[in-house]
Amino acid sequence: MQALKNRTWILRRRPEGDLRNDDLELVDAPMPTPGEGELLVRNIYLMIAPTNRVWMSDIDQYMAPVGLGEPMRGMTMGVVVESGNPAFRAGDVVEGPMAWQEYSIVRHARRVPLQHGLPLHAYASVLGSSGLTAYFGMTDIARPRAGETVVVSAAAGGVGSIASQIAKLHGCRVVGIAGGERKSRYVLDELRLDACVDYKQGNVLEALRAACPQGIDVDFENVGGEVMDAVLALINVGARLALCGMISTYNATGDWWSPRMFRNVIMKRARIEGFLIADYLPRFDEGVAQLAEWVKAGEIRYEVDIVDGIERAPEGLNRLFAGANVGKQLVRVAPEPSL
Ligand SMILES: NC(=O)c1ccc[n+]([C@@H]2O[C@H](COP(=O)([O-])OP(=O)(O)OC[C@H]3O[C@@H](n4cnc5c(N)ncnc54)[C@H](OP(=O)(O)O)[C@@H]3O)[C@@H](O)[C@H]2O)c1
Repeated sequence: MQALKNRTWILRRRPEGDLRNDDLELVDAPMPTPGEGELLVRNIYLMIAPTNRVWMSDIDQYMAPVGLGEPMRGMTMGVVVESGNPAFRAGDVVEGPMAWQEYSIVRHARRVPLQHGLPLHAYASVLGSSGLTAYFGMTDIARPRAGETVVVSAAAGGVGSIASQIAKLHGCRVVGIAGGERKSRYVLDELRLDACVDYKQGNVLEALRAACPQGIDVDFENVGGEVMDAVLALINVGARLALCGMISTYNATGDWWSPRMFRNVIMKRARIEGFLIADYLPRFDEGVAQLAEWVKAGEIRYEVDIVDGIERAPEGLNRLFAGANVGKQLVRVAPEPSL
């Protein structure tokens, strides 16, 4: 009988600029066996995120970069196949930082709270780390008030699409920034935001000025660079800027565009704060419960963008940098189990 293999992506080289095909290699690793206290997890979804690209670089960041020759780290969701840990049973659905591979061995994983009656891909998107990033970033860091103008960049993406709808639920005028006609339509028609600036159409500052006649009170920043510079130029006194991500800089080599209008943080007595979703782990259940309620009431809409097959994981990541995805980018490695 042929031994079962576990296809795994290995980081072979630190990418310079855009991720290239040979920066990673898909290898047939031996099927792992769980030891005492360990779980064998069959991965269903790789939750692809821009930070995966950051983890490939040897730069100052919030956790150690992936080592060369090591499996590519990724947030995954899967089903426990075998458990050497009495706290888990075969069939449990878990998620956590595992790897871009078909099967993972871990000592700890978060049990996915499936009691809300939504499909598994909802737990990998709007009720997963991207929805939770939107929820805590908007409610805890940005704290919008009714009547304020809120701007969300990468508004058609996994985090931005949820963050912008949460600001609408707070009674704000919400302006999304997104690239291209298809995404602008999605932001206006599906997410029901008040305006959308297509930053690929030319002068983003002037388009944003027109969309925000009362100035900007809150910025939920996902992009950085030129887009954030335009926001900074338009902030009101007392503005809050929640720094969620700066995707425009993650692939950059050499010098990149830093906001030139940073002095406005002083002129407008603004508050600017970065945050990481991992710090909110103790409050995840609270966030999931609220997001599930909004989704079930039809007050928050979500989209998943799924590519199939472990062999397409690098393509999945590149889609984020090319702006190809609408909603949360997932790579499906195995079929969803029926819940
Ligand atoms: N702080 C945290 O804990 C945390 C957690 C999760 C994610 N994040 C951050 O949140 C942001 C969004 O992540 P996500 O997973 O939801 O990704 P996403 O928004 O679904 O995908 C990324 C989007 O960014 C836009 N983009 C890519 N390159 C760009 C560029 N050079 N200039 C302008 N826009 C660009 C593209 O949309 P367009 O087609 O509209 O350009 C793309 O679809 C990222 O910055 C990520 O690092 C932070």
